[in-house]
Amino acid sequence: MTRFSEIVERARRVFPGGVNSPARALKHLGAPLVALGASGPYLHTDRGRLIDYCMAFGAIILGHAHPRVREAVMGQLESGWIYALLTEREVVFAEKIRAHVPSVEKMRIVNSGTEATMNAIRLARAYTKRDVIIKFDGNFHGSHDYVLVRAGSGAATWGVPISAGVPRDVVRLTVVVPYNDADALIKAVREVGERLAAIIVEPVAGNCGLIIPDREFIKALREESERVGALLIFDEIITGFRVGLSGAQGYFGVMPELTTLGKVIGGGFPIGVFGGRSEIMELVTPSGPVYNAGTFNAHPVSIAAGIAVIEELERGEPYAIANEAAERLARGVEDIAGRAGFDVVVKHIASMFQLYFKRGDIKTPQDVRESNEKLYFKLHEVALRHGVYLTPSQYEVNFTSAAHTRDIVDETLAALERAFRELKLEAGASAP
Ligand SMILES: Cc1ncc(COP(=O)(O)O)c(C=O)c1O
Repeated sequence: MTRFSEIVERARRVFPGGVNSPARALKHLGAPLVALGASGPYLHTDRGRLIDYCMAFGAIILGHAHPRVREAVMGQLESGWIYALLTEREVVFAEKIRAHVPSVEKMRIVNSGTEATMNAIRLARAYTKRDVIIKFDGNFHGSHDYVLVRAGSGAATWGVPISAGVPRDVVRLTVVVPYNDADALIKAVREVGERLAAIIVEPVAGNCGLIIPDREFIKALREESERVGALLIFDEIITGFRVGLSGAQGYFGVMPELTTLGKVIGGGFPIGVFGGRSEIMELVTPSGPVYNAGTFNAHPVSIAAGIAVIEELERGEPYAIANEAAERLARGVEDIAGRAGFDVVVKHIASMFQLYFKRGDIKTPQDVRESNEKLYFKLHEVALRHGVYLTPSQYEVNFTSAAHTRDIVDETLAALERAFRELKLEAGASAP
């Protein structure tokens, strides 16, 4: 037994499934990867140095261990790291978010995306004095009861449509509608009518692979929620500060009432934000009756890292590098897969891309489910042997960062060329 397989064995004795989050179990590999470190575009693991396209499921946009972020965090550590008091830095951080994200006037800073969506939904229910929410099939908003109904991400990879332990009464208050289907949304809103508190949506879906919605769907979200007096919540935990400084709401030019943020804005440290119009946010404690509190809220280390990341992104250059990398990879993978004789669809926006073994297009979570998952897993495994760590499931997204320079992309494409050839030999035939 090697040192690493011993770690995995010990982990299995102390953690359910041997991990602390299901997407890390890597069921198709038979064992989780053991991380040893990370720098720039690389993960250093028990399987060697890998070019990383998971980037902590989108939490990293500048590259791993970015010097500016490290310096900010070290600077914070010099003067202690938690006070549970107001700090000037969290005000600076919030002012930056407010300046960039059009719908956010006031916000509360929490510790994770899960907390952000849970609080946003609670707030929407309190504001509208209604109970029912609409969420979309394949969208993932974290791991709390209100949203674990036909969720994406790990819940999709592991085939858990409704988590055990979520009370039936909670499930009844969550109406699930097909994603990117304006007609289905209009019909559902008509049915729920004035019991509808909120529609929560990923404005670009990143937890059922990558699905870029039609403008018509985005328009229906805005119009239908307004028509019945419900709040529109954009879950921008992936898209916020990734699709651009103003997120998907800036990209589509649509203003939700509430927005949730996370991932990128913590620079790799735990964070979540929910925010919106002042009048709604004033309902949050201590101004109003919607309870939110947290020992670690607006943690100084996350805030220091977050300011550093946003300041870097404000320069524009990191976006240019990361976006170019994703675009070249999307085109390159399509070419390489085609040459190897596979039917592959690649979706791409900003610094995100995903590939599916499928003919036709990807417009809905059902399209993703109809893709050849086994081939994706096989490609993931083969690419790993060639030094590339693709995102570990077709239900997740590949992310690039400012560390994915042209050379790194060239190296990746060369490795993927070899990987696809090998896949061809192993799979024997082309995709479905
Ligand atoms: C869109 C979206 N919302 C919410 C979450 C939950 O965030 P966290 O993992 O920080 O709790 C995620 C995490 O992947 C996400 O992708």
